Amino acid sequence: MRTVLVTGSAGFIGFHLARLLLAEGFRVVGVDSMTDYYDPTLKRRRHAMLRESNGFSAEEFDILEAERLLDFATQARPDAIVHLAAQAGVRYSLQNPRAYIDTNLTGTFNVMECARELGVEHLLMASTSSVYGANVEMPYAETHKADTPLTIYAATKKANEVMGHSYAHLWNLPTTMFRFFTVYGPWGRPDMALFKFTKGIIEGTPIDVYNHGEMWRDFTYVEDLVRGIMLLIDTVPQTPSSREEIAAGDSLSPVAPYRVVNIGNNDKVRLEDFVDAIEQEIGKPAIRNYMDIQPGDVPATWADSSLLESLTGYRPQTEIREGVRRFVAWYRDYYAV
Ligand SMILES: NC(=O)c1ccc[n+]([C@@H]2O[C@H](COP(=O)([O-])OP(=O)(O)OC[C@H]3O[C@@H](n4cnc5c(N)ncnc54)[C@H](O)[C@@H]3O)[C@@H](O)[C@H]2O)c1
Repeated sequence: MRTVLVTGSAGFIGFHLARLLLAEGFRVVGVDSMTDYYDPTLKRRRHAMLRESNGFSAEEFDILEAERLLDFATQARPDAIVHLAAQAGVRYSLQNPRAYIDTNLTGTFNVMECARELGVEHLLMASTSSVYGANVEMPYAETHKADTPLTIYAATKKANEVMGHSYAHLWNLPTTMFRFFTVYGPWGRPDMALFKFTKGIIEGTPIDVYNHGEMWRDFTYVEDLVRGIMLLIDTVPQTPSSREEIAAGDSLSPVAPYRVVNIGNNDKVRLEDFVDAIEQEIGKPAIRNYMDIQPGDVPATWADSSLLESLTGYRPQTEIREGVRRFVAWYRDYYAV
């Protein structure tokens, strides 16, 4: 049986990934420190659900504890590591930048050291569409330049990408970086728009609609996203023997077993239409508090996911209305409203 170590296993994406991997017959070993960035009860409930499966085990500690992490990983003997633990969130990075430096830089370095020490087959780590920053060429492709991050969150993720490249090169450590685009779905994060909008509409409180609704996001349904991750676990990058070997549109490094892959929905949805879809699903109008764009925010993101498709044959496909329907159903059930 193959073992995958998932960091951030009690997180939104980590939970869904672990659930899929367990269903597909993997053994999953998780680590999560249950940070209080948002309600840890939600994280504990996610871990409790995973623990119902025999193939799952997890410990609660901080990945900043390098020795403990290495001991834990050595015991687990993973074939692959999927590193999702992070201080996430674009806006919070203006309030508490140090949390991003600690977990995303030092914590990620500790995970890379583990992967090197253990000689895992494949290290996969989460980056974000935020690294495209001020890019205006859309849809965003992995081969575009991405060196204008607008927040410290994006900057730490960009740093993770280049740190990953150096280890892939120095230690011949196959490494894939994912760039996720606004991920949504059941068990989602309370700091994200869908959760806040659903809560506001159900409770009859105003919702903040940034840039007066003139925002576009490539919303990726979480179950689609984790399927993409699972397929990439077996898509191990190899250093090409020459630059000519790299296919057009492939982000493969010419000097390392390293690649960056977007996982998005290949589509962009206007914020106003997104709110309309949630209103319709709940059957109640939103009280919209229109606001200017927030510092560090970008008006649009849109993924070119053709590299994911050419590597794995898979393309995310859940329609926004269907995804919103499943989220609202989960929310009503979970909070009994
Ligand atoms: N959700 C999205 O739309 C999105 C978009 C782009 C990138 N990402 C990235 O995907 C990854 C997963 O995001 P998510 O939405 O599941 O977020 P999440 O906050 O739900 O999950 C992250 C988990 O990591 C844990 N964690 C944080 N710091 C830790 C530390 N020092 N030690 C151990 N555990 C720690 C948290 O407790 C949390 O459970 C993150 O790297 C995030 O930056 C997410």
